[in-house]
Amino acid sequence: MRATDWIKSPVDMGNASVCFKKRVCLDRRVKRAEISISAIGLFRAEVNGKRVGDDLLTPGMTGYHNRVQYMTYDVSEHIGDAACAEIAITAAPGWAVGCFGFDGGDKTYHDHYAINAKLTLTLADGSERVIYTDESWVAETSPVIYSDIYHGEEVDYTAVPRVLGNAVLDESAHKFPLVPQVGADIREQERVAPVALIVTPKGERVIDFGQNLTGYAEFTLAGKRGERIRISHAEVLDRDGNFYNDNYRAARDCHLTFVLDGTQRVMKPVFSFQGFRYIRLDEYPEGEIDLGAVRAVVVHSEMKRTGRIVTGNPKINQLYHNTIWGQKSNYLDVPTDCPQRDERLGWMGDAQVFCRTAAYNFDVRKFFEKWLGDMRLEQWPDGALAGTVPEKLIKHGPSRVSAAWADAATIIPTELYRMYGDKKVLEDNFEMMRKWVEYQHHAGEEEFLWLGGYHYGDWLAMDAGADSFVGATSTNLIGSAFFAYSTDLLIRAGEALGKDMTEYRAMYRNIVKAFRERFMENGMPRVKIDMPATMEREKLRGEEEQRIGMTQTAIVLILHFGLCTEEERPALVDKLVELIDGFDGLMATGFVGTPYILHVLARGGRADVAYRLLLEERNPSWLYSVNHGATTMWEHWNGIKEDGSFWSKSMNSYNHYAYGSVCDWLYGVAAGISADEEQPGFRHILLAPVPSRELGFMNVSLDTVQGRVESNWYYKGDQIFFEFTVPAGATASLCLPDGYRATLSEGTYHFVTKA
Ligand code: BGC
Repeated sequence: MRATDWIKSPVDMGNASVCFKKRVCLDRRVKRAEISISAIGLFRAEVNGKRVGDDLLTPGMTGYHNRVQYMTYDVSEHIGDAACAEIAITAAPGWAVGCFGFDGGDKTYHDHYAINAKLTLTLADGSERVIYTDESWVAETSPVIYSDIYHGEEVDYTAVPRVLGNAVLDESAHKFPLVPQVGADIREQERVAPVALIVTPKGERVIDFGQNLTGYAEFTLAGKRGERIRISHAEVLDRDGNFYNDNYRAARDCHLTFVLDGTQRVMKPVFSFQGFRYIRLDEYPEGEIDLGAVRAVVVHSEMKRTGRIVTGNPKINQLYHNTIWGQKSNYLDVPTDCPQRDERLGWMGDAQVFCRTAAYNFDVRKFFEKWLGDMRLEQWPDGALAGTVPEKLIKHGPSRVSAAWADAATIIPTELYRMYGDKKVLEDNFEMMRKWVEYQHHAGEEEFLWLGGYHYGDWLAMDAGADSFVGATSTNLIGSAFFAYSTDLLIRAGEALGKDMTEYRAMYRNIVKAFRERFMENGMPRVKIDMPATMEREKLRGEEEQRIGMTQTAIVLILHFGLCTEEERPALVDKLVELIDGFDGLMATGFVGTPYILHVLARGGRADVAYRLLLEERNPSWLYSVNHGATTMWEHWNGIKEDGSFWSKSMNSYNHYAYGSVCDWLYGVAAGISADEEQPGFRHILLAPVPSRELGFMNVSLDTVQGRVESNWYYKGDQIFFEFTVPAGATASLCLPDGYRATLSEGTYHFVTKA
């Protein structure tokens, strides 16, 4: 691929697609043909009328100013014995040029879409002919007359293609660095049939797919020429049973429109996707609606399923199902926060809290290899990382550099190394991890603390009132705790790579010491935290003054990150339980505390409280949304309130996987399958199940890189029966709840203990 070969349409068609065509006639038979294609925007290609590849939304989502992927396809069979090769590449605005990001902006990376292609023909005599995109290509209108990621698509099958003229060389695109595809293909994965056709109280016709998902609706029918299908999308119905999508914010007016030409065909968008469970038929061909003609197509990045959990509690099974669908819905080239509203951004905090669960559920190596590459390229020279990758607000410098969000840089490589045991992920990312730690080292007022800054805090925690976004926990405490944690992870990564980490070990000791002095007192978090007099109010951001140290999340972080001594642990666990009891027996934690709360309780000998929280059904709890019909994870614990009304429409997604991070506790603690950090990649497995009579039984399997590991347990009378499978080449250290320990090698084992 050559940076000089970008072409654009001679006429700016805005959001309408353009098809770029080139006909190459051949005097010798083609032995092999290969085409590489990229776009600033999105592309879909055909050679001799046959679709090239089956991947979607190519060339994927990257920070295009840093790199743009190109895809390479073998098209030998498309050409076969034909005398000519006709290339047709349709392009659309997509992420790079279309509307993208919650600031409603478009043209983030470029003013218009452009394509770049190279066809390499190996002829029968061994000679090679290479065709590049240039001004000889002809631009034509396409049936896709409107396309945008957020706002949907309109395809007019009656449209007659019109030549716009010869393509124009796009010199302004030379700056986009082209790289061969790194990420997993985005593909259609499965089809979901409607479960009901509803006529709502308002008289609207709505199709329910029974599952919140990401992808698009597909219609297979003929209709009459000129008839239209026009649909809108929603995740939920309101309490009266009416169609509701105000929570899509600026993406609310997202429609798919098809103008029919009377030919039987499969109709679906080409360059757009939506998050939805319901579609409203705003316009539809006359006559009875045949649900057999309608499907929802599920779209996500290619990743193999590796984990499975079944328990004796149907509600927990539904919670697990919701988490799987949260991942399927949001692992679309980058790990997004949600797939429906005007975000769908690679939010770092969401990604880091969920990544261990994600790596249990699916093989996410390739998926994260690309995204971590995107992250490295987005890191600022001083080590700063923004809230999202790619960073949408590139025009304004990094947006908020927030603790627990940017720490994705250290946490995700660590989790991937733990799960898959491949040092390459540490080698590739070590420098980014180091620079991120150095950023924190220099960000604060004091060398070993991160004070000040503008953080997302314990996002959506319940302890600062139900409508708070940032929660009650001091963001200075969170920032400094994550500074310690990231430094710890950096040291471990460095040690695994054989680097001298003496300096960072000393720094870590200083951070822990400074943390304890500033934020703790007698082994407990301080309630009120004094800040250095030198710190301007500005840097503390007013509201921080109301935040405190004595919160559930603060204790969870202190315990989970090891910022306390072993002797201090029991009292901290007791205090955590006291705070939970004082909060009506409920969790008050947000994005930061929730992923670890069950872990610290179980580790601290209070698995009973962990299970109580897991099985809680009041708000806030995991099962609250299950009881309210959720089929994916909700952004807010109570996105639908008890009375059926909604949380504010400004921030209320029903497909936000972050709280699904509870599944890493189900795999790792309840079933007890976890990777030994000293021997990552499950070469040595830790098997330490923590059963619960309320759960009844648990059947869990995990396809690790070593092979399948299984942990099953069930209660019968006053006994618990266990069955474990250890794959060849691995060993396992078993620890049963009654304290029995054994070392297991390949095989299946049975144990019985008293309940
Ligand atoms: C996103 C979150 C994200 C947050 C930053 C929201 O708009 O949807 O999931 O992490 O912003 O706090």
